[in-house]
Amino acid sequence: MARGWTSLSRRRPGLGTVGAPFYPSPDFAIRSMLDLAGVHSDSVVYDLGCGDGAIVAAAARLYGAKKVVGIEQSKRLCSIALAKTRGLKNASIIEANYDDVDVSEASVVTLYQSASENARLKGKFLRELSEGTTIVSHDYGIPGWHPTELHAFKDHRRGYRVLVYVVGSHLPRRPSGAADLHSAPRK
Ligand SMILES: C[S@@+](CC[C@H](N)C(=O)[O-])C[C@H]1O[C@@H](n2cnc3c(N)ncnc32)[C@H](O)[C@@H]1O
Repeated sequence: MARGWTSLSRRRPGLGTVGAPFYPSPDFAIRSMLDLAGVHSDSVVYDLGCGDGAIVAAAARLYGAKKVVGIEQSKRLCSIALAKTRGLKNASIIEANYDDVDVSEASVVTLYQSASENARLKGKFLRELSEGTTIVSHDYGIPGWHPTELHAFKDHRRGYRVLVYVVGSHLPRRPSGAADLHSAPRK
């Protein structure tokens, strides 16, 4: 994703922030996301903002996930995603704003949104996802949350990051015996 992409995360007057514009994850980033999320034949994967459906197709075809759902707000991208996943019985594409889709059955959520959009999505994740659900994010972290894994890698043009979060283990752990900086000191 090009530098300065965060600033491309747009604002609609009066409607707040909207998610990232389409910018596809390269194949090696997709493989890394799905590998690090440990996608397997029992996984239920949701891609929030699935773009052209490349992650959905890979999770369904190459990893044999039980169910893979891509949610995308753009009609044009949905038709590309539908073409890419045609014939895959374990894959489906929903044309919608992901805010309006219940993702509670997911065991894995994949994301390629801006940091501010990831921050906005925290409420949805905490409301809908059960403990142990893996969220894997390309390039941008979830502000204030603690990744269980962070992988940085490079191709010849630029660096990429994949961050893994597990609901329930997403808050930074204080080392045992460390002072709680937010509470009053013990007398
Ligand atoms: C950076 S692209 C990522 C595409 C794909 N997930 C990937 O990694 O290749 C972000 C996508 O999210 C979609 N998107 C942004 N906000 C959305 C929303 N609220 N609901 C559904 N899709 C959204 C955009 O249309 C775009 O296709």
